[in-house]
Amino acid sequence: MRLNLKIWRQANATAPGRLVDYVAEAISPDMSFLEMLDVVNEGLIKKGEDAIAFDSDCREGICGACSLVVNGIPHGPDRGTTVCQLHMRRFKNGDTITVEPWRAKAFPVVKDLIVDRSAFDRIITAGGYISINTGGAPDGNAIPIAKAVVETAMDSAACIGCGACVAACKNASAHLFMSAKISHLALLPQGRVEARSRVVAMVNQADAEGFGSCSNEGECEAVCPKEIPISNIARMTREYIRAMWISDK
Ligand code: SF4
Ligand code: FES
Repeated sequence: MRLNLKIWRQANATAPGRLVDYVAEAISPDMSFLEMLDVVNEGLIKKGEDAIAFDSDCREGICGACSLVVNGIPHGPDRGTTVCQLHMRRFKNGDTITVEPWRAKAFPVVKDLIVDRSAFDRIITAGGYISINTGGAPDGNAIPIAKAVVETAMDSAACIGCGACVAACKNASAHLFMSAKISHLALLPQGRVEARSRVVAMVNQADAEGFGSCSNEGECEAVCPKEIPISNIARMTREYIRAMWISDK
């Protein structure tokens, strides 16, 4: 395959960025999108040019590092798929593909296609954990929890913290990300103890980081590679309203 690429190049957070045209040649349809970028970078390095900076780690949909907007869609056109799982057979020979970084005030560009997502780490640090003594594995297994509740909690735990939900949202809201973490913990008895202080601390931190509010557009759910549902946001809102009335501190 031969593809025309328009790739965002930006030297650092404060430098102006722009889309630069590249041609990707001899691309196998079986390559992943990131392998295609590797081929382009090999060509640039051979010519003595600066390689395109992009983030990746696991390349199998687990780590959430591959934060690319492909043709205007975070993680590209396939539902429930990270961009590292996107394959070039999804495109046609001769296609033009635009590749940009996540766009959000709270995710400043580090270089080219890499953004700083440490704001998510600070939200988790604010409350996304259980600090009570939960005992060992036998203690956890001894607590009867309805299967449907366990399944919902585990589905919420599937969030990989990629930030696509923020990138897709016109408000750059982190609500889907936060609601996944809050649902995962609040649904389980071990997490209920700190549920109220947790939701307030995480929402306050998200505000401080510059993430926007939720206006129920649903763009986040549409691009989420782990298909986290926006019903979690409703649960988070209920938790927040409860926390405003009754403190567990
Ligand atoms: S909710 Fe989905 S899109 Fe948002 S950070 Fe988690 S996995 Fe990524
Ligand atoms: S590189 Fe880990 S999810 Fe894509």
